[in-house]
Amino acid sequence: MTATTASPDPTAAAAGSAAAESAAGTGAAYFSCAGMQSYYGESYIVQDISFDVKEGEVLALLGRNGAGKTSTLRTIARMDDPQLVSGQIWLDSKPLHAMADWQAAQFGVGLVPEDRRIIQGLTVEENLKLAQIEEPIGWTLDRIYGHFPRLAERRKQEAVTMSGGEQQMLAVARALARDIKLLLLDEPYEGLAPVIVQEIEKIVAEIKDLGITTIIVEQNAVAALELADRAIILDTGQIVFSGSAQEVLDNTELRHDYLAI
Ligand SMILES: Nc1ncnc2c1ncn2[C@@H]1O[C@H](COP(=O)(O)OP(=O)(O)O)[C@@H](O)[C@H]1O
Ligand SMILES: [Mg+2]
Repeated sequence: MTATTASPDPTAAAAGSAAAESAAGTGAAYFSCAGMQSYYGESYIVQDISFDVKEGEVLALLGRNGAGKTSTLRTIARMDDPQLVSGQIWLDSKPLHAMADWQAAQFGVGLVPEDRRIIQGLTVEENLKLAQIEEPIGWTLDRIYGHFPRLAERRKQEAVTMSGGEQQMLAVARALARDIKLLLLDEPYEGLAPVIVQEIEKIVAEIKDLGITTIIVEQNAVAALELADRAIILDTGQIVFSGSAQEVLDNTELRHDYLAI
């Protein structure tokens, strides 16, 4: 299938170009999506979502199970499923909405999916080298091993035989092995022991300090909010809150209604 082009809907197109103008003009919206709508077959899942992320910012994308968080990340990464049918998505003044998944990846969208997608039969190092088979390359192996000493120790080990936490580190490292503009983390702490969560949190904090623009989806909302600058809460595929991370931490009602924390 060819890349989905912008919708004929003039409203969506107008909203998109306004977002594009602000991206080009002020530099404020490094990433923006406007009127983003996507479907799994007939099921309307991402329901008219619009938001911006500034360069170097960490945005927490929160909401209960089934709220549409993974679908939103997959839409941004231009996966075939769910299919983007309307709206615009811009990154660093380039239209992601006009790209296929591989073009978005090549341009700098680094999706670390929930299931991590570690390649079976390959060592840790081979998984990393595979990510660097094509330009543009991000971190060198030496730099990766400097930040992820556990991966350095296990470079010759078959990657899928590692613990869940180590595989998560590899999944994040593999994204950094490419020259990325936007990191999309889908539940990086899921299913991990608290001590391992702390290790991954440290890595994500380092990534933030390096100024990599990031959208983090987490069920562990408090962990994500402590790190994030801003937060968006989704419910049934729509944005029900957008504000600072601190506002969510301070708002008991919001946390109770949409986050169960
Ligand atoms: N492949 C799919 N086909 C059809 N519906 C899907 C598919 N994946 C997810 N959904 C539906 O989309 C909605 C949002 O799911 P998802 O984005 O995975 O939510 P979250 O990541 O917030 O838990 C849910 O109602 C889910 O059942
Ligand atoms: Mg999900």
